[in-house]
Amino acid sequence: MCGIVGAVAQRDVADILLTGLQRLEYRGYDSAGLAVQASQGQVQRLRRLGKVEALAEALAQTPIQGGTGIAHTRWATHGQPSEANAHPHQSGPIMVVHNGIIENHSELRQQLQQQGFEFQSQTDTEVIAHLIASFRQQGHALLQAVMATRKQLTGAYGMVVMDEQSPEQLVVARSGSPLVIGAGIGEHFIASDQLALLPVTQRFAFLEEGDVALIERRSYQVFDSQDQVVERPLVESTVEHDAGDKGQFRHYMLKEIYEQPQAIANTLEGRLENGQLNLEALGDLSQVEQVQIIACGTSYHAAMTARYWIESLAGVPCNVEIASEFRYRRSVVRPSSLLVTISQSGETADTLAALRLAKDIGYQQTLAICNVPGSSLVRESDMALMTRAGAEIGVASTKAFTTQLVALMLLTVALGRGRQLSTEQEKDIAAALAHLPALIEKSLAMNSDIEALAQRFAEKHHALFLGRGSQYPIAMEGALKLKEISYIHAEAYAAGELKHGPLALIDAEMPIVVVAPNNELVEKLKSNIEEVRARGGELFIFADEAAGLNTEGNVMVLPVVHCDNRIAPIVYTIPLQLLSYHVAVIKGTDVDQPRNLAKSVTVE
Ligand code: M6R
Repeated sequence: MCGIVGAVAQRDVADILLTGLQRLEYRGYDSAGLAVQASQGQVQRLRRLGKVEALAEALAQTPIQGGTGIAHTRWATHGQPSEANAHPHQSGPIMVVHNGIIENHSELRQQLQQQGFEFQSQTDTEVIAHLIASFRQQGHALLQAVMATRKQLTGAYGMVVMDEQSPEQLVVARSGSPLVIGAGIGEHFIASDQLALLPVTQRFAFLEEGDVALIERRSYQVFDSQDQVVERPLVESTVEHDAGDKGQFRHYMLKEIYEQPQAIANTLEGRLENGQLNLEALGDLSQVEQVQIIACGTSYHAAMTARYWIESLAGVPCNVEIASEFRYRRSVVRPSSLLVTISQSGETADTLAALRLAKDIGYQQTLAICNVPGSSLVRESDMALMTRAGAEIGVASTKAFTTQLVALMLLTVALGRGRQLSTEQEKDIAAALAHLPALIEKSLAMNSDIEALAQRFAEKHHALFLGRGSQYPIAMEGALKLKEISYIHAEAYAAGELKHGPLALIDAEMPIVVVAPNNELVEKLKSNIEEVRARGGELFIFADEAAGLNTEGNVMVLPVVHCDNRIAPIVYTIPLQLLSYHVAVIKGTDVDQPRNLAKSVTVE
């Protein structure tokens, strides 16, 4: 999604803006631009289609000096990717960058055209620039013009406005798309997330829904949706390390895959001590009679896995739904239900909207499982269980997923206590979790074998992924990873479902990836594998050696470390992540920023 950076400083800010944009590249975008204003001077704007690198080259040729500026990476929604549609958008002295969608842009465009405003782009954003300009023409100060403008907008926005006639000021507004203010010494910054600003500050204030803020060099002032002054205090950043660095790795995705043992250990810290699970932070869940989980994408796959755990281990009914479906259907709220949302970013528009709807329709207890402290989802939920994966930059989610699974296993135990989960079972789960970082390390040792195997996928156009029970969502996640970064069409099936249709797809050209731990379903899975073998499919099986799989024929079995079956979904995720990564590298795709995708989908 679009990325925003802004600065009001005494020094030149063009490089700060550019660095900020580079650090937001992971969000996904198709064009980039900036505008800088010299004190008392004219605003200069530069925009380029394509990567931030192209903008940096243009800036190197035409350096722009000045201490107030705004910058943007655009992920096209209204209007194709082009220089004319790139932000900042201008209306006379007004420059605007915007993240979100203005739903009533057509009618506003018509009104503004009737007033004589000429449009230079196809974007919804340009109406904001002209609206602010029209209020300025009526004599409003910049802050009041933005406040008046937002009352006319329907939709979502995080926006930053610069005005040639109000140098050394930025006005920002948030409704649906997050913005953080960063405080330096005698300078202030604004960005869509903290990562953009970590090179210049560690102190942040988080804007809330409906806020408007006036940002100046030495101060910032925030107003709520009623235009009343409110406090949004500065807090020290909790981002532990500067994740904007790939270190020894070629891609963020690979770095993040390798960070999983540590990320999992961090997620368990303080929650697993001396073999005991400390789950007090989750409060009293003894009255919960049903769990409803809502999420999107990879987070939805974590939810699907948790459903198997929560019902089989805790004995609590659990329902899982994709957020974009939940939010547009009339669902029944069962009494004493716990509403759980799962999100890496905590800013996914569909998940947030689903949470808000759930509260409106009567869910009394809400829990967010999330990786970003201070995110909207965390702030709007009654409870939060943080995943502590650290910043995830690669668009393809990896360490966020496995840490979500760890958090969900903790939730399962918390729900199971006092119900059907015995003390003995809880001890076994605690022991398995304690061992998990080491098991992930061992799984990472499969890297070179998987790299070799990836060659066999590079020329393929389709792939199937199979699993059963709690490994079915892992197969789904494996297929999603392959699709999103290698652009190979991949589908996952619960292996027992093959004979109901997908078996027709099997031939010698179709690679079939199977996840096969040695669990209670392995004999059933073996029969499904035989169905594929009999039809000449090319099988790649990630298996526990103890499962005793038949290796005859067109079959490659890759041994996976033996582990407790309850945590096997987490362990079997690793080889699938590595497989999709290496296939993408061989295919030469943009691994960290796959085409058409955004890291955090903050629009509908
Ligand atoms: O930030 P969230 O977990 O809410 O994001 C949900 C999905 O957009 C996300 O998991 C997406 O599917 C990933 N790109 C998958 O790798």
